[in-house]
Amino acid sequence: MKSKTINIKQITPSEVLPIRHKVMWPNMPITYVSLKNDDEARHFGLFLNGEITSIISLFIENNEAQFRKFATLIEFQGFGYGSILLKHIISLVQKENLKKLWCNARVEKSKFYERFNLKTTNKKFVKDGIDYVIMETYF
Ligand SMILES: CC(C)(COP(=O)(O)OP(=O)(O)OC[C@H]1O[C@@H](n2cnc3c(N)ncnc32)[C@H](O)[C@@H]1OP(=O)(O)O)[C@@H](O)C(=O)NCCC(=O)NCCS
Repeated sequence: MKSKTINIKQITPSEVLPIRHKVMWPNMPITYVSLKNDDEARHFGLFLNGEITSIISLFIENNEAQFRKFATLIEFQGFGYGSILLKHIISLVQKENLKKLWCNARVEKSKFYERFNLKTTNKKFVKDGIDYVIMETYF
């Protein structure tokens, strides 16, 4: 069996855009997935045998980290790559002594995030037809 090499690297906003677009909002223009503070964020990619497979973006403000636009290419979903990337982000946030990690989670993904100790809050909203709940964890 071919061996798998997994690397996680910091990447640029222009590298995350096409994946965000393809996975999350393929029917919208690509500009829809560009965030106004992308230039101040840190973006990470998980590379499987050199090919980018999963992405996540980390925004830090007031000693709190928010992750946004977490996505795995559809054909690679369900193999654990997203979990590896999210664990990497959680360790990084802990290493940097940030006190909180949070996200606007798609409600359908809240069980997934609970496995990483993120807790649902009572802050819920709907955007573009999708239900969201704010989830958070304190260190
Ligand atoms: C959310 C997302 C990034 C997760 O990425 P992923 O690479 O598929 O994540 P994982 O493979 O680690 O986990 C996904 C599921 O596969 C399961 N899984 C993980 N490794 C597995 C394995 N080796 N064998 C079988 N199942 C596995 C996980 O338990 C998880 O199950 P769940 O969805 O029932 O909770 C991905 O589903 C995605 O891009 N979704 C569309 C965009 C989106 O919704 N982003 C999040 C917005 S809040």
